[in-house]
Amino acid sequence: MKGLILSGGEGTRLRPLTHTRAKQLVPIANKPVLFYGIEELAAAGITEIAIVVGETHQEIRDAVGDGSDFGVSVTYIRQEAPLGLAHCVLIAEEFLGDDCFVMYLGDNMLEQGLGEFVDRFEKSREQTPSLMDDAGPSRAQILLTPVNNPSSFGVAELNADGDVVNLVEKPADPPSNLALVGVYIFDSAIHEAVRSIEPSARGELEITDAIFWLIQNDYRVSHQLLDGWWIDTGKKDPLLECNRLVLDTVVRRLEGAVDDASKVEGRVVISEGAKIVNSTVRGPAVIGANTRIENTFIGPYTSIGDECVVVDAELDHSVVLEGCRIDGIGRITDSLIGQHVQVTQSPERPQASRLMLGDHSHLELG
Ligand code: TTP
Repeated sequence: MKGLILSGGEGTRLRPLTHTRAKQLVPIANKPVLFYGIEELAAAGITEIAIVVGETHQEIRDAVGDGSDFGVSVTYIRQEAPLGLAHCVLIAEEFLGDDCFVMYLGDNMLEQGLGEFVDRFEKSREQTPSLMDDAGPSRAQILLTPVNNPSSFGVAELNADGDVVNLVEKPADPPSNLALVGVYIFDSAIHEAVRSIEPSARGELEITDAIFWLIQNDYRVSHQLLDGWWIDTGKKDPLLECNRLVLDTVVRRLEGAVDDASKVEGRVVISEGAKIVNSTVRGPAVIGANTRIENTFIGPYTSIGDECVVVDAELDHSVVLEGCRIDGIGRITDSLIGQHVQVTQSPERPQASRLMLGDHSHLELG
């Protein structure tokens, strides 16, 4: 079994952060989203992984390298433009060969591990043909979860045996409430499928069309129901929610320095070289390496990146990337702040807000 992680795309919904950085490298509890996916594949015993990359390829190569830090071997496949998830399979055919593979969206996170999902597919394939029903072995396995708003997702319809008999993208009249989660397993039949389909109205080769092609051509598509949460981190609010869920699982670790005037409460990571001065850090929270927190309250569900300075401030339920300076600005909540951002108070008159914001920034002044 091989792994195919999709980390191209444009990330328009996370602008302005994605003007300068791959959305798959935005941190959750100070670790890039993509790293969680690689670790999940490695934990499921998958060590040969290809990562599909687009314009941000260099940044992803620099962060992941050859995969040896994760105990896997990583090959990069350059996608010239985001032409769709099924297009990623098309350009990965040489790497994948005849092997089965897990396809994983590089900006998605799951609570459940992949081990059981992979085992289930492999077991169904190991049965001898005489034990199989007429439909033969499963050629693809998808992960499904019930949702309240199926019209916003790819939606699957199952038969009495639990096989997928229909798949529709964002249906006006959904056949079920079972939405497709961004993890799939395929065997080599998918290559014929992605070569056979046409681009959709939005100009992309859609993976739902390729899976539907399998069903129409009598290939068996099985499913598993998702256990636990699943988040597409490609937008601000889900990203903050994901950060909250992951911070709830961190183990308290104090490597940096905390002075006597400070309090560090609950699940908190203070990384090496960080300094907490006359401040309260109320977990769950992580403070990055060499970051200085002074005269500040850091509230629950906050991640502060490496090399930041936060002085005379209050922050909670927020993600701050590395190299930021936040100084004397009162309370910040529900916020996502990119790399090397400065939010400071000005002594100059007139007393007014002076802004220099990147394209597509969002600012809600309280
Ligand atoms: P999406 O979130 O569906 O698309 P996107 O990255 O273009 O984002 P946005 O809608 O904000 O512009 O992509 C899911 C994952 O698949 C994400 O990690 C990017 C990756 N991807 C590719 O690698 N190639 C592609 O052609 C597409 C469409 C996505």
